[in-house]
Amino acid sequence: MTETSADTAREAVVEAAIGKLGLDAKTRLLAGQDMWSLPELPEIGLKSLVMSDGPIGVRGVRWTADDPSVALPSPTALAAAWDPALARRAGRLLAQEARRKGVHVLLAPTVNLHRTPLGGRHFEAYSEDPLLTGAVATGYVQGVQDGGVGTTVKHFVANDAETDRFTVDNAIAPRPLRELYLAPFEAIVRNARPWGIMTAYNQVNGVTMTEHHHLVNEVLRGEWGFDGVNVSDWMAARSTTGDIEGGMDIAMPGPVTVYGEALAAAVRAGEVEESTVDAAVRNVLRLAARVGALEGAPPVVTEPPATIDGDALAREIAHRGFVLVRNENGALPLAANGTVAVSGAAARDARVLGGGSAQVFPEHVVSPLDGLTAALAAAPGGGAPTFRIGADPSEELVPAGSVSPGFTLRARCRDAGGRLLGEGSLPNGQVQWIGDDLPDGVTHEALASIEVVGTFTPRESGEHAFGTRGLGAYTLTVGGETVFDGVQAMGPETDPFEAFFGSPVERAKVALTAGETVEVSLLHTLDKEFAAPLPAVMFSFVHLGPRRDPDELIAEAVEAARAADTAVVVVATTERVESEGFDRKDLALPGRQDDLVRAVAAVNPNTVVVVNAGSPVELPWREEVAAILLGWFPGQEGGAALADVLTGAEEPGGRLPTTWPAALADVPVTEVTPTDGVLDYAEGVFIGYRAWDRAGAVPAYAFGHGLGYTTWAYESLTAGPDTAVVRLTNTGDRPGREVVQIYLAPASADGERPARWLAGFASVEAAPGETVQAVIPLPRRAFEIWDEEKDDWTLVPGGYEVLAAHSLADARLTATLDI
Ligand code: BGC
Repeated sequence: MTETSADTAREAVVEAAIGKLGLDAKTRLLAGQDMWSLPELPEIGLKSLVMSDGPIGVRGVRWTADDPSVALPSPTALAAAWDPALARRAGRLLAQEARRKGVHVLLAPTVNLHRTPLGGRHFEAYSEDPLLTGAVATGYVQGVQDGGVGTTVKHFVANDAETDRFTVDNAIAPRPLRELYLAPFEAIVRNARPWGIMTAYNQVNGVTMTEHHHLVNEVLRGEWGFDGVNVSDWMAARSTTGDIEGGMDIAMPGPVTVYGEALAAAVRAGEVEESTVDAAVRNVLRLAARVGALEGAPPVVTEPPATIDGDALAREIAHRGFVLVRNENGALPLAANGTVAVSGAAARDARVLGGGSAQVFPEHVVSPLDGLTAALAAAPGGGAPTFRIGADPSEELVPAGSVSPGFTLRARCRDAGGRLLGEGSLPNGQVQWIGDDLPDGVTHEALASIEVVGTFTPRESGEHAFGTRGLGAYTLTVGGETVFDGVQAMGPETDPFEAFFGSPVERAKVALTAGETVEVSLLHTLDKEFAAPLPAVMFSFVHLGPRRDPDELIAEAVEAARAADTAVVVVATTERVESEGFDRKDLALPGRQDDLVRAVAAVNPNTVVVVNAGSPVELPWREEVAAILLGWFPGQEGGAALADVLTGAEEPGGRLPTTWPAALADVPVTEVTPTDGVLDYAEGVFIGYRAWDRAGAVPAYAFGHGLGYTTWAYESLTAGPDTAVVRLTNTGDRPGREVVQIYLAPASADGERPARWLAGFASVEAAPGETVQAVIPLPRRAFEIWDEEKDDWTLVPGGYEVLAAHSLADARLTATLDI
């Protein structure tokens, strides 16, 4: 790692600052003062360092929509663009957002692997392939840091599923640990020099990651030269001495942590060397120096990059990440002047981002229906598409206003005597106040009740269901009438956040008329028995619009589709399917969505299905429809980008970053539930396409697959040990972009190495008829394995086939290479 003069200047300021701090100040600095920040230390000119999630936006320190954030597409979508330069631009935008919100450190990117599609946070990670993950994340980290903002690459390491995530012991042999799970972290540390890392909740081989001396101190810092800060995942830190000896620098969140006073006491008792505390303080101060929060130290970035238009970039990333997996008879782009019938509830109520800590509140959202309506209205001779719900996957009540519009809500906070302490605005019916994130004038000590109050103007007439989510006592009033008054008690869940949220419970149905406003109120009385693991108020006022007969909904959509030139069906997962805190149980689309697609496809040969899901879902009708576009969670501009791609203004640019199975039963790795606390990564290095190859199984869509709107002829491939050069020609009639993928296949299969693996990739752009050249570096690591005997990397000599491919299943040219 090259040391610059600015690095040297920063180190000098940091060392001088350490010398001025007493033990108590040092240990205080290593502990969160609240949910998101560290204490300021004016005596050394240190500002309070502020952190915020990541990875698709910067939420800031408050869970409200008052200070909205640009919401980019899900990490799966960013990875699907296979473009580290695009990821870098995303990072720069996020740094701009972070600066705007006073945030120094973005808690991102998530670089755990898609070990199985059942992983609940699959949407939040990039790929099943370590090389692709590492390359995209390297661009992302470079971009954020270009803007002078830190990152915490997370979750180090192997937080690949959510079941029992706080305690699970992932048993992983050294070889898969190195070749798969550590590999992206290593690439990022070596290539982007990240200023931070976040250690995971889980254990690896019997040691919890916040205390993993070997992986943190010896591998990450020792071998790779990581010089950044190591922050615990939220509430992951459990042992004062174990954590500090394990190389964990910051315990989050605060104010109650295993550091602070407890760490100072451990030093005084002789259990911990003060020099060990100093090493952690040094890492925190180095971070502060880099982001410009330590007086006298030159920040890494003095001139942030030029301002980026967030809406435009969100739209660009969305269309660059859309993966067109099927396009029969040129169904897409849509013919000019044709009529379009849209169906699927998600076409109107778009799901643009995944659930959990990755959530942000965008200022606006363009739904597929909004996007298509605007684009078709602008087209010559175009008319608005028709819309029918067709099928609604939301079978559960959701926070009021998060899906159906019409709610205007605020929170009124009172003390035990009924005195009003303060009021706060709410993004929707979900109240999530953690730590000091409370409305002005409100404290946890004084707060006794919260009333979510406001108005609701329904867009549909019928029976509206209202309810509660979370523990405690509730009084629910609709239109001046009390419809529920009771208590929700604790359930058997284990994840503290899940336990606190629980499932939404329907409390009453009320007949309402479209357009007629009613007053609504949910009074929640706090019971200190239901205290969260940290000072927090978390509950929701939930709602579900009128449920109509599902057969009738499908029939209406079918009639509209029959009359149109093209039918567009948007299918989606829900927040209860893909989110943080739990894994998926199956890969089926919820509700009657499969029936809807089949029924529409039966009457319209030009049926285009848009899949609004962050991770793979089964598409049992995939051979029955004309086109399938995987749209991921497409971010706030998703509908505009969708219209760009459907009308042909833009090409869908994505290639699958992860194998898309036909059915869960075919998936080689599905185990996410530990046995006696241990989750055995028994498949070794065989995850994703490596496992599909070994099983000889064929997925619905292969890793790397994705169609554009032009065609490519691969003309020549020359391969050396360091580089592959591919010449290719755009043989179609419109400009296009191709992701040229290079796979290596060892000539002699030994059964221990996968049959093929990704060794490099590059994108090229060409006009119709133009021939271009892709120059793709092949890292030495692509020819190496982790030798468990030697405890080191070792080159595997011999013959290799080098495949230049459009996807794993579509190799166009082959060369041989002797290493
Ligand atoms: C998540 C992290 C996140 C943190 C803070 C944790 O539950 O695992 O990814 O950064 O919360 O929100």
